[in-house]
Amino acid sequence: MLKIAPSILAADPLNLEADTKRLLDAGCDWFHVDVMDAHFVPNLSFGPAFCRAIHRKFPALKMDVHLMMDNPETMADTFLDAGADCLTIHAEIPGDVSALLERIRERGRMAGLALTPGTPLETVTDKLNQADMILMMTVEPGFGGQKLNEAVLDKIEALRKLGYTGEIEADGGLTEQNLPELIHRGLSVAVMGTALFHSEDPAAMMRRLHDMGRKA
Ligand code: DX5
Ligand code: ZN
Repeated sequence: MLKIAPSILAADPLNLEADTKRLLDAGCDWFHVDVMDAHFVPNLSFGPAFCRAIHRKFPALKMDVHLMMDNPETMADTFLDAGADCLTIHAEIPGDVSALLERIRERGRMAGLALTPGTPLETVTDKLNQADMILMMTVEPGFGGQKLNEAVLDKIEALRKLGYTGEIEADGGLTEQNLPELIHRGLSVAVMGTALFHSEDPAAMMRRLHDMGRKA
């Protein structure tokens, strides 16, 4: 079943609680929090205090935390303590990816592994059994509102063809128009920021998106 994960990066920074509730009420399945350290990507965003507050206010909301950080091992436990249900690290980090994926699973949460558009799938084929989810960045990480990089569609399809049965998440530039093809290639979790937060009627849009998943 296709899961929709709004990205809070696209919300109104002065109305995060209201925007979160609006999308929760609209029927989102997960909630995507982009954490940026101004090193791995040229931007700075949310921290563990924000995640703690979201988890306290909306305990039933599945929090999907995407660590765009050079050294995620320094804060992985802090984000897990803050309530992250799925914690995703990047394959491109200098540290020990396998050890950190194992640590996340040891704590009973979903371990996610992310690739930027330029990182070949071969980089992670030896770690697929350690990852509950593979996050395929469909834009260069760091900013919302970019155009989806079509070349990543082939990576998604190739991953499914390898027999990967975990979640495959796409993040960046997803719209109602390009979602059907992503689903066809094997997507199971759609991160949507701009398209959802700027929608006139997120609930109606969420219904259409879920219908796409059912019809696929
Ligand atoms: C990039 C961010 C974006 C954001 C969603 O680092 O991760 O991909 O979540 O972007 P849009 O607004 O294009 O859906
Ligand atoms: Zn993200």
